[in-house]
Amino acid sequence: MGKLMQRLYCGRVNISHIDKQVIIYGWVNCIRNLGRLIFIDLRDHYGIIQLCCIPKYKYVFNQVMKLKNEFCIKVIGIVQNKLKNKKKEIINNVEILVIDLDIINQSSTLPININNIVNEEKRLKFRYLDLRSKKMTNNIKIRSKVFYIINTFMTKNNFLYIDTPILASPSYDGAQDYVVSSKINNNYRYYLPQSPQIFKQLLMISGFDKYYQIAKCFRDEDSRSDRQPEFTQLDIEVSFIDTSELMKIIERLIRYLWYKILDVKLDKFIKISYNDAICRFGSDKPDLRSNIELVNLTKLFTSTNNNYNEIYNFNLNSIIAININNINISDEDVNKYIKYINLDNIKMSFWIKINVKFNKLNLEGPAIKIFDYKFILKILDFFKNINYGTIFFVIDDFHKATNILGKLRLKINSDYNLNNVKWAPLWITDFPLFKIKNNTLSSMHHPFTAPKCTDINYITKYPKSIIANSYDIVINGYEIGSGSVRINSYKMQKVIFDILGISKYKQNKYFGTLLSALKYGAPPHSGLAIGLDRLLMLLTNSSSIKDVIAFPKLTSKMMNVINK
Ligand code: AMO
Repeated sequence: MGKLMQRLYCGRVNISHIDKQVIIYGWVNCIRNLGRLIFIDLRDHYGIIQLCCIPKYKYVFNQVMKLKNEFCIKVIGIVQNKLKNKKKEIINNVEILVIDLDIINQSSTLPININNIVNEEKRLKFRYLDLRSKKMTNNIKIRSKVFYIINTFMTKNNFLYIDTPILASPSYDGAQDYVVSSKINNNYRYYLPQSPQIFKQLLMISGFDKYYQIAKCFRDEDSRSDRQPEFTQLDIEVSFIDTSELMKIIERLIRYLWYKILDVKLDKFIKISYNDAICRFGSDKPDLRSNIELVNLTKLFTSTNNNYNEIYNFNLNSIIAININNINISDEDVNKYIKYINLDNIKMSFWIKINVKFNKLNLEGPAIKIFDYKFILKILDFFKNINYGTIFFVIDDFHKATNILGKLRLKINSDYNLNNVKWAPLWITDFPLFKIKNNTLSSMHHPFTAPKCTDINYITKYPKSIIANSYDIVINGYEIGSGSVRINSYKMQKVIFDILGISKYKQNKYFGTLLSALKYGAPPHSGLAIGLDRLLMLLTNSSSIKDVIAFPKLTSKMMNVINK
């Protein structure tokens, strides 16, 4: 029996400590009373150790009788060998024979079952208890590790960590700002930054050529599974570096993180243009874990000699289809999917089932009533290698049709487990500079994004056709990061503000500092921000970013429930 008293953590006791007398603290995870033997699983941040209590230590036995789950206790004991015990729950093949036990603090019966909580409102109300669960403890540890890896990687690559203000000016990053007023300063209104965008550009103009920050961002919008009003970005900006160089650094960082956290070697990121992504996958953040693609049949319908064009007016509408090949989709599911499509008020949708048996083509579904057999064969020519499958068709304007089939694609991928790979990272490039809603132009990213075209006259004349020098990172259908080359010319920045309809007054009030800075030799610069909560959601296999944030914000609906 050892004489030395060593302070150990529950999850760290191992065979090297056998026979040592140790002090250990933790929470009672569970108690198993076998009469003359009482076992306790004691838990701390590092894991669980089994404690063994025997009647020989009478005081201990008396104390144990008072214990309940989640009591916080201190134990002195001797580490014992449990190698022969084949029971799985004996962690590290050791247990501790308790010779003294001190109850540090009692615990009321917990309002939630830590490792099996179904009710999300309750989880968040008792977050300090929810964080005791194995999954949450692990997620928060991974978050810390990811921050450490990022800091090390960025420092090694000569990036300088510079923090920027939280009390700032409006952001124009696309969402609502939070406004904070100062009592001392005549109720001056500060805005919480939606991102440090303008600050990092100013830093480039100051001459810092490689900046990064793990930055808190604030956007007054409701929480969703991949969105929080307060979230964290890895914010990066560089000057005098080619976009392709910057993309390589970011890609290296992400691959390094996947390797360090998951032991996974990610494939090289593929690049897809925005247009291609919409046409083939109906989304600007396509999930490429499955290779099912949309097919545009509009040309087929307009070019052939038939009267379908008169019926559907393909000058206004597109006909987009998706073929789910080699999968037998049940009739019930087909109806469910058509209903799902029609929820979007689609002009027309229909389907056809194909089955080739002994070289004979069997067709089923409403499409055979709409089109003649010859034309259906022409349609089928568009889809290679159909043995059996179901094609869903949507007729509507191009964006609506691709959008709904893009969503259906994801739904069927998930319902029928059609993903072929675990990870599908990619870059989306060549976004339009502007988006149009109700005849009003707004920035697709933000107003500081450089257009690919540098001809100011052309941009003013044809703003809708201008392509941005921007890029997004998408992994498994989530937009993980977004960035661009920035405008570094005063004149161009003014033109873009004008096109966006930002008044001269607002330009000066909110962007005066940036506009002025652009007059003093602004270097070519570009940057990007990665949503760290989303990245962590993927790295921890969580279904919501709430699960990787220690204290997330509630949705407005949850607030109502909890405050009741
Ligand atoms: P953007 O607004 O696209 O770009 O944000 C960059 C990344 O941040 C993450 N993100 C969010 N994560 C959780 N909750 C939110 N509400 C939320 N909003 C965004 C996403 C997104 O890709 N200043 C620019 C970046 C730049 O151009 O350098 C910006 O903030 O993963």
